[in-house]
Amino acid sequence: MSEAVKELFAHIAPRYDLLNRVLSARHDVRWRRHALELVQGSPHTVLDLACGTFDLAVSALALGKAQVVHGSDFCQPMLIAGSGKRAGRPISACVGDALHLPYADGAFDLAMVAYGWRNFGDPAAALRELYRVLKPGGQLLILEFFRPVRLWPRFFYATFGRIVFPLAGGALAGNADAYRYLNASISSFLTRADADRLLLANGLIGVRWLSFCGGISHAVIAHRPADGPHQAPAAS
Ligand SMILES: C[S@@+](CC[C@H](N)C(=O)[O-])C[C@H]1O[C@@H](n2cnc3c(N)ncnc32)[C@H](O)[C@@H]1O
Repeated sequence: MSEAVKELFAHIAPRYDLLNRVLSARHDVRWRRHALELVQGSPHTVLDLACGTFDLAVSALALGKAQVVHGSDFCQPMLIAGSGKRAGRPISACVGDALHLPYADGAFDLAMVAYGWRNFGDPAAALRELYRVLKPGGQLLILEFFRPVRLWPRFFYATFGRIVFPLAGGALAGNADAYRYLNASISSFLTRADADRLLLANGLIGVRWLSFCGGISHAVIAHRPADGPHQAPAAS
């Protein structure tokens, strides 16, 4: 499964940013910025996990929500497609899997994941890794599309998501299947309520949510307790 996901992103990497802008009518840029406003203070060392083409890293630096960003993604072509955005900015890039992060315990003041969590295969294991690499008191920011429960987002994904995503993916990236996967991965992922429970069960606290466009996209911030256990409790 993860090999198939990696191949899919490798295939669409050169057109990934274009598709994001077209399919969201540029709302994705605004969603990242608004989500970053949930971050408190000015974290120094920041992880952008599943960083793709570094859009979140660039916004975090621009908004003063990071001084140095370490971008990590398991799909090298995505990192290459975004490499121009690293020029002149304190952003490093590393090929790595979300479930086995190549970073020391407590390495980051802030860890962030934009639209990557639902691809990781084991959402609870990914949270445990994120908890591990956060400093005590460090913040975790996740942007994601969750399985819709309310009428409007359900309608949106059942119509626009099911029909327009693959049409646009076929026309602009030559890969309708990738954008079929995008929609399918949302309808088979956690609901926002499930995600809320999972964050708490994995030792994260202070959970706060933002919803965009009536629940089409969400952002959540939480933090590792300053005096919590060394590892997240094993909960799934
Ligand atoms: C929808 S893109 C999001 C990219 C970027 N964060 C953004 O906001 O545009 C999802 C990214 O997750 C990466 N990804 C998926 N599964 C992963 C895993 N297990 N470990 C690391 N990266 C993963 C993909 O390669 C892809 O770049």
